[in-house]
Amino acid sequence: MNQKNEDVVTESSSVRDRVRIFDTTLRDGEQAPGFSMSLPQKLRMAHALKELGVDVIEAGFPRASEGDFASVQAIAKEVRGPTICGLARAQTGDIDACARALSGAGAWRIHVLLATSPLHREHKLNMNCSQVIDTGIKAIRYARSLCDDVEFSAEDAIRTEPEFLIEVLSAVIEAGATTVNVPDTVGYTTPAEIHRLFSRLIHEVRGIGKAILSSHCHNDLGLAVANSLAAVAAGARQVEGTISGIGERAGNAALEEIVMALRTRADHFGVYTDIRTPLLLPTARLLANVTGATIPRNKAIVGDNAFAHESGIHQHGILKHRETYEIMRPEDVGVERSQLVLGKHSGRHALRDRMKGLGYEVDETQLDDLFVRFKALADKKKEVFDTDLDALVLGQDPATLGPWRLVHMHATSHLGGGASASVRLRHDDGRMVGETEATLGDGPVHALVRAIARSTAVDFDIVDFQIRSLSYGADAQGRASLTINYAGRKLVGRGVSTDIVEAAGLAALEVVNLIERMKHGQALPVAAHQVG
Ligand code: KIV
Ligand code: ZN
Repeated sequence: MNQKNEDVVTESSSVRDRVRIFDTTLRDGEQAPGFSMSLPQKLRMAHALKELGVDVIEAGFPRASEGDFASVQAIAKEVRGPTICGLARAQTGDIDACARALSGAGAWRIHVLLATSPLHREHKLNMNCSQVIDTGIKAIRYARSLCDDVEFSAEDAIRTEPEFLIEVLSAVIEAGATTVNVPDTVGYTTPAEIHRLFSRLIHEVRGIGKAILSSHCHNDLGLAVANSLAAVAAGARQVEGTISGIGERAGNAALEEIVMALRTRADHFGVYTDIRTPLLLPTARLLANVTGATIPRNKAIVGDNAFAHESGIHQHGILKHRETYEIMRPEDVGVERSQLVLGKHSGRHALRDRMKGLGYEVDETQLDDLFVRFKALADKKKEVFDTDLDALVLGQDPATLGPWRLVHMHATSHLGGGASASVRLRHDDGRMVGETEATLGDGPVHALVRAIARSTAVDFDIVDFQIRSLSYGADAQGRASLTINYAGRKLVGRGVSTDIVEAAGLAALEVVNLIERMKHGQALPVAAHQVG
């Protein structure tokens, strides 16, 4: 059992190896509370994962329910490119269900799961070691009789005796498993420990050269990504994980973090993936939209703050040379550009730079004056937006910028779909206008934004709408951010209120005011709020 393998993959021989990305957002991710998805939502996600370039999409657990079966079947039929995979316990019924659900796919994989740890053997399976091995062998042979691509997962592998794990993996490879997965089902291991285990598996599992060794780490101790990377360093050539790390309990390893770590530190890992990294952010955003679970601001790679800088020292550094405080290029993960957020921690360099970006040429004396007023404003507000800067330059109180003012607003949503909103607006030239708008299924925010657009006769397409809580509690302030397309440009409006519909209305009002001022060539440079 301890003899060395002939066809081992060592760190040095695996330079520039490809690491396969196995995405289980739609199975392990979806089975966690708060992340369930409907069939059409799963299909949308599956198409996005295909575009992202994942190698395998685990689409679900067909035997679990009719709904899961239907989703796996629909994804298998529609999504071409990646291998579509279904999960099965080591039972013929599960394996048959998988094969039936997957048979319409271009390329498909049956993923057989069998627990191997002493705890699971005794308390869950009621099997001894040789029964576990026999069950695994039979299940893999049966799955291989239906499909050429079969993965075996030793559930709770990390808490399995290494010698027994080596026996199980050797046996299932001999039975035909083409991928062997070593899950840290309960998120218990550490990077050094998993590195030692994978190195041992690479050397001691018989026939390992005929299969791909895979990791699947959970995040109970916040180590899922670090552990997955350590497994890759020791020879794993498939990594399982989910977008944004969603999944059972504390989640799975976040694929965007693994992919960017492997890419950014290619010097260290010497491997690559086929992921189209600029699609990482759009994919994470799609998942957030579909599940309603917002991405935390400070989330690595895809959080709003991942490329945002507010402190004066950092902003100064970034302005001089981006790499002083950024190790990745924002565009490589799908972020348009680094964001210098102007707030109370920002310095003169950042203010000067933003002013320049807005088209204002200010000399040092003007900047001194602006900086004092900017700091006073930043102390009152959490973030200073471009419109606030315009107002500062014009010597106005940002709160009084017009020309349109909201006089009255009313929005309702109706049980069973549909919403309506009415607004009344006053123009600084004395005009009063108002509109009522009803929408089917798109909600009160959409109705309100459309009512404001129609009242002011401004025609724009909504590109993105986000609402984020600025604090906690029932009276939390919400910040709405509305991105629109107007005459080929993207413009952003923002509004803050404890009422989220009102925040959306204020954001829409900011956009129409900006367009109105642009139309009349009033002071505002075209670049003022342009984001693309
Ligand atoms: O965490 C786990 O053990 C699993 C297996 C199905 C791979 O999700
Ligand atoms: Zn899992």
